[in-house]
Amino acid sequence: MTNRPIGIFDSGVGGLTVAAAIKKHLPDESFIYFGDTRHTPYGDKSRDTVQTYSREITEFLLSQDCKAIVIACNTASALAYQKLVKKFPDVPIINVVDPVVNYVAEHAKGKVGIIATRATTQSGIYKKSLLAKKPKLQVVSAATPLLVGIAEEDFTHTDISRGAIKAYLNNDDFSKLSLLILGCTHFPLFQTEIESFYEGKTEVVDSPELVAHHLKSVLVEHKILNEKEREKASYRFYVSEKTKAFSRIARNFFGENITLTEKVLS
Ligand code: DGL
Repeated sequence: MTNRPIGIFDSGVGGLTVAAAIKKHLPDESFIYFGDTRHTPYGDKSRDTVQTYSREITEFLLSQDCKAIVIACNTASALAYQKLVKKFPDVPIINVVDPVVNYVAEHAKGKVGIIATRATTQSGIYKKSLLAKKPKLQVVSAATPLLVGIAEEDFTHTDISRGAIKAYLNNDDFSKLSLLILGCTHFPLFQTEIESFYEGKTEVVDSPELVAHHLKSVLVEHKILNEKEREKASYRFYVSEKTKAFSRIARNFFGENITLTEKVLS
């Protein structure tokens, strides 16, 4: 039971930032990653559409004998998590929003910012969950979709990324933050640039690390943590559409070369 893989999915290859953190912090765990590159981006799609794609992917991952599911996509976490938990009550499913909300509610004071896709921002998921836990927080949020394209085009650490960060964050709402949540799979790639923008005065939250730690506690709680088989950990990467561009982008997000296998679900 415990050496079965973990299923991880995202709208595309951005969720590989979460997969990389899971590999780093849970080196004994095998996983199967599914990136829905045929339907990416989810950030501008409707709730119904994201729920349908998320259900199909979860069914596929469970057919591959996964013992737990990680929704590595913020948009799918915001729009489809509740639905998946209802549909698949027997399998632990974790999303990328809750571990961040728990951390921030415990650590932040004053004003907190969130940047994410349009769909995640419009869902209000971070703001609602944070205020439910800590009503005194001041919470500001903004959709910053351009950062997704900049990360995919490998324009981080350039004038383009610095310009976009300034255009989105250099305003009254986003000034004097105690903490900023990077509410999108792609945004950890901007972490150091955003820290520099705030001159180190704002904590920029690294959600893949928090998600990996949360996953560990869920595996322990369900008694399905694999502690013994380090040499046998294996990783499989599926995408619903394979192109050269996705292979290149995948390397940037995962931090090493990986082989993507095409798997069409619908
Ligand atoms: N994976 C998405 C997220 O974290 C970003 C890309 C998309 O819009 O699909 O929200």
